[in-house]
Amino acid sequence: MAEQSELEKKILVVGGGRMGSAILNGWLQQGMTPSSIYLIDRGLETLEGFKDKGVHTFQNVEEVPAGITFDVFLLALKPQVIIQQVTEFNRLISDSTCLVSVAAGIMVATLKQMLPNAKNVVRVMPNTPAMIGKGVMVGYSDKQAEFVKLIEGLFSTLGRFFWIADEQQMHAVTAISGSGPAYLFYFAQCFVESAKTLGLDENLAQELALETVIGAANLIEQSDDDVEILRKNVTSPNGTTQAGLEALMADSILKQLMEACCQQAAKRSVELS
Ligand SMILES: NC(=O)c1ccc[n+]([C@@H]2O[C@H](COP(=O)([O-])OP(=O)(O)OC[C@H]3O[C@@H](n4cnc5c(N)ncnc54)[C@H](OP(=O)(O)O)[C@@H]3O)[C@@H](O)[C@H]2O)c1
Repeated sequence: MAEQSELEKKILVVGGGRMGSAILNGWLQQGMTPSSIYLIDRGLETLEGFKDKGVHTFQNVEEVPAGITFDVFLLALKPQVIIQQVTEFNRLISDSTCLVSVAAGIMVATLKQMLPNAKNVVRVMPNTPAMIGKGVMVGYSDKQAEFVKLIEGLFSTLGRFFWIADEQQMHAVTAISGSGPAYLFYFAQCFVESAKTLGLDENLAQELALETVIGAANLIEQSDDDVEILRKNVTSPNGTTQAGLEALMADSILKQLMEACCQQAAKRSVELS
């Protein structure tokens, strides 16, 4: 858990979209003082929502008063937007600011090049369950030791946090935990569709398929057994589960699809770097 000191740092968030909002809402839920947060986003609706919560909001960099020293600058813009526009935020960074980028692909060296005021740069790959404190996040910095406490304090309020020592591994991390929730949402969507195909009405199909996904995920979390054992434990010989799994596991098609899916995501991360 974050100590009170981490929750009172002066924090600038640039980009209040899906990920920026998820992190910000997570921090607010964990008791961060809203008036210590400054948010820049183009969307008026987003800004209004956070303004109502007590966050300082700005539509562009020019509106931010000069002379504020930020402890943390959370960069949550799309990678393409960062490449084109991030230099305009350089003036908001001081020697003591820790720049935290959650952008896929963009390397620490590139960030330092685009934002020359940034002496302290950390990359964090979060995922959207962070908004309910169930995220899994990975950090990398070329001088990690100085920021371990600050970054772990801030991000461990949003879920599990791990460090990696090799920045190249961020591509794999992005493909697995960063993009992963979407794969599982798609799996859940296909599961609901299959339930409807078997004749269940829309509501019941949703309830049964989604509660099964949620229950199974909770069981993974709470059980000491690994996922293979959990699967084997519910597969009676010649039973219904075995019949279903035989179709699902035939020719390792799903395994190959998952490999292709993760490889494509990692490849895209490399392309963005
Ligand atoms: N979404 C995820 O699950 C996820 C997971 C891990 C990491 N990430 C990383 O998080 C970053 C943000 O992704 P996202 O999904 O949150 O994107 P997003 O929803 O598009 O959020 C970006 C926000 O920044 C705003 N914006 C764009 N240009 C701006 C500017 N010059 N000044 C101020 N605000 C500006 C956008 O406004 P407009 O909508 O008006 O353009 C939008 O509200 C990406 O780098 C991504 O790699 C995302």
